[in-house]
Amino acid sequence: MIDYGIKDRVIYITGGGSGIGRAIALLAARGGARVAVADAVAERAAEVAAELRDLGVQAMGETLDVRDAQACDAVVARIEDKLGPLDGMVACAGISPPSAATAMSDEVWSRCLDVNLTGMFRSVRPVGQGMVKRKRGAIVTIASVDGLGGHAGRAHYSASKHGVIGLTRALAIEWGRHGVRINAVAPGVVDTPLVRANIPPDHLQYAMIDRVPMGRLSSAAEQAGPTLFLLSDAASFVTGSVMTVDGGTSAGFFTRWNGADLGSRALLEAGAYGEPE
Ligand SMILES: NC(=O)c1ccc[n+]([C@@H]2O[C@H](COP(=O)([O-])OP(=O)(O)OC[C@H]3O[C@@H](n4cnc5c(N)ncnc54)[C@H](O)[C@@H]3O)[C@@H](O)[C@H]2O)c1
Repeated sequence: MIDYGIKDRVIYITGGGSGIGRAIALLAARGGARVAVADAVAERAAEVAAELRDLGVQAMGETLDVRDAQACDAVVARIEDKLGPLDGMVACAGISPPSAATAMSDEVWSRCLDVNLTGMFRSVRPVGQGMVKRKRGAIVTIASVDGLGGHAGRAHYSASKHGVIGLTRALAIEWGRHGVRINAVAPGVVDTPLVRANIPPDHLQYAMIDRVPMGRLSSAAEQAGPTLFLLSDAASFVTGSVMTVDGGTSAGFFTRWNGADLGSRALLEAGAYGEPE
């Protein structure tokens, strides 16, 4: 296992009760960190905290809606009281309900922005306050490739994730002089039960996987390593950056299929790109 040098560090993860956040929490615990997860769903936070304790580390599971500023402040106070000053934080809580822009209600728009962007700010703010005072600490925000480009059916989500990247860069500039780093991880499509349930298998095979140069989706665990790297001292001069963890999805506009449609069909048909597909 890779040693991220995080033994005994105190790491706090919002949205840590499921998917990517849970995977980050588990990898941090395997590295010997003391880990607090917070999640809007109480049982999820409690279950993951129990999994973390089973790995032999001190852990906390907190119920938190990141839209509630006072609760965000209180959770950080409780974690620091119990586990010690935070060394690292991962802001991962997020939602992504599909909705066509023409039919999108104010409520759907606002909820997505409130959780993904305003909620992220509210959860990061009390962490930054302590880190700035102590003159050390690292934060990772979980953005998305949808923060780098648009996505049909996700106008609210895409806007929120572009906002996350802007927020991350602004905070990096404000807090850099205080020794506090903040970077964004931008995952591509991560293979979670939710994604499997939302994407028909033929679409997954021909469109989604073709859109990923590496030819497959990411596991949640594959998002955890780059996140811990950015929290670690190995990234001591990295701040304000956006690390895409997308198997190459954002590397260019054309896939093997859709590039072939635009002029290199013969190469595709001759098997120049490997498997016939
Ligand atoms: N899964 C993907 O393909 C993918 C791709 C790019 C980015 N992301 C981002 O990664 C993050 C995690 O996504 P995931 O796929 O692991 O999703 P997930 O649904 O498995 O986990 C998200 C967790 O956040 C929690 N949460 C939701 N609203 C909350 C709130 N208001 N306050 C606190 N917790 C809240 C949920 O209860 C859930 O446990 C999100 O920010 C998402 O936008 C996911």
